Amino acid sequence: MHKIIIEGNKKLSGNIRISGSKNSAVALVPAAVLCDEEVTIANVPNISDIDALDEILNSLNAKVVRNEDVIKIDSSKISNKLIPENLSKKLRASYYFMGALLSKFKKVEIHFPGGCSIGARPINLHLKGFEALGAKVEEKDNLFVITADKLVGTKINLDFASVGATINLMLAAVKAEGTTIITNAAKEPHIVNVATFLNNMGAKISGAGTSEIKIIGVDYLHSCFHEVVPDYIETGTYMILASLVGENLTIENIIPDHVESLISKLEDMEVPMKIGMDYITITAPKTLKPVNIKTQVYPGFPTDLQQPMATLLTQATGKSMINETIYENRFLNLLELNKMGATAELLTPQKAIIVGPCGLTGKKVYASDLRAGASLVIAGLVAEGKTIIENADYVLRGYEGIIEKLTNVGAKIKLQEVNK
Ligand code: EPU
Repeated sequence: MHKIIIEGNKKLSGNIRISGSKNSAVALVPAAVLCDEEVTIANVPNISDIDALDEILNSLNAKVVRNEDVIKIDSSKISNKLIPENLSKKLRASYYFMGALLSKFKKVEIHFPGGCSIGARPINLHLKGFEALGAKVEEKDNLFVITADKLVGTKINLDFASVGATINLMLAAVKAEGTTIITNAAKEPHIVNVATFLNNMGAKISGAGTSEIKIIGVDYLHSCFHEVVPDYIETGTYMILASLVGENLTIENIIPDHVESLISKLEDMEVPMKIGMDYITITAPKTLKPVNIKTQVYPGFPTDLQQPMATLLTQATGKSMINETIYENRFLNLLELNKMGATAELLTPQKAIIVGPCGLTGKKVYASDLRAGASLVIAGLVAEGKTIIENADYVLRGYEGIIEKLTNVGAKIKLQEVNK
């Protein structure tokens, strides 16, 4: 266990280089087991969620070689056995082994995944899709046994444009007989990144990034080289930070189109930005206008930036509203922000009002989940005095080298092992 300690209220200048996308990489690594040869994935973020997937691959006897941001995975001789529950519980993305192993072996045994406690997070749409492809799903005490004599392409309409279900069904359908069409598919950049990876191996997927994805089943997937797309949530987190304490702070190696919804909100807040082909430079303005945020599926405002954004709204002059529509329980950071001096109030479990600007003071706070942790890191960097963020391992799950990246631009921030 770790805590993050921050001495706040310092201007940050220089460059922050964005890493490969967590939510893309955590799908690409399980997708690699579909390959009949070795694959190479580059720009993989060095985060604990990837370490957890590495452990799962090892438990299946895959050959994994990691060297800095490059991971080579050879699953040609993997064994299809039960993934130990302590491993699948470590992260949400373990559910991608459902689609991948079902596709490869027509059978998978796996427990309900872990992940941040931000709502109920059922996987009914994944399971319904597997059944539509011809699989039988049995569940007892959180253990899923999914089997199929064969998988046959079909039309699957998702009730909700779920990221996880869209990717899992692409994985399950990639070697199915015939054509699968997923309608109301999720459109996030990582959906496109995963489809491109599978196509690089010889899959026939079209339409990724639109609401209708077509997958023509193939028998064999060959070796390929693939790169993880830059992380637009990490990008957005640092853009929000820069809007508070940036002095010509440049966020680089990014795809500005992926953060269009955030750029538009920051423009409304009158944050000056210089937007280049693959970078954004921000200097924090003296005052910020309040805005209302409603989280939506991509290209709407991402739920994963809602909590970091809440910290920014504490410094806007006036009343801002947040409507979280994706998760039932993603406001636990507000209690901690209030401890530091914010005035945020929950109107309903999914609606909050924040009135600013308020002076933030360093306090001992608790990271209840990954993006709550990011929200508190930003608050700590703005606040007067010392902030101690407990349960900081959550932050390390999703932000590669956050301590080094922030130290390099002038932050006083350190990671400390608990009991040391
Ligand atoms: N949902 C269902 N049934 C399903 C699937 C989803 O009801 O079968 C509901 C969920 O309960 C939730 C909503 O749909 O309320 C969104 O779920 P979605 O499936 O889109 O999300 P996810 O696959 O569980 C991924 C990311 C999340 C990110 C969401 C939305 C990974 C490993 N996780 O989760 O990332 O919030 O998409 O973009 O890719 C994070 O990075 O902090 C994080 C939580």
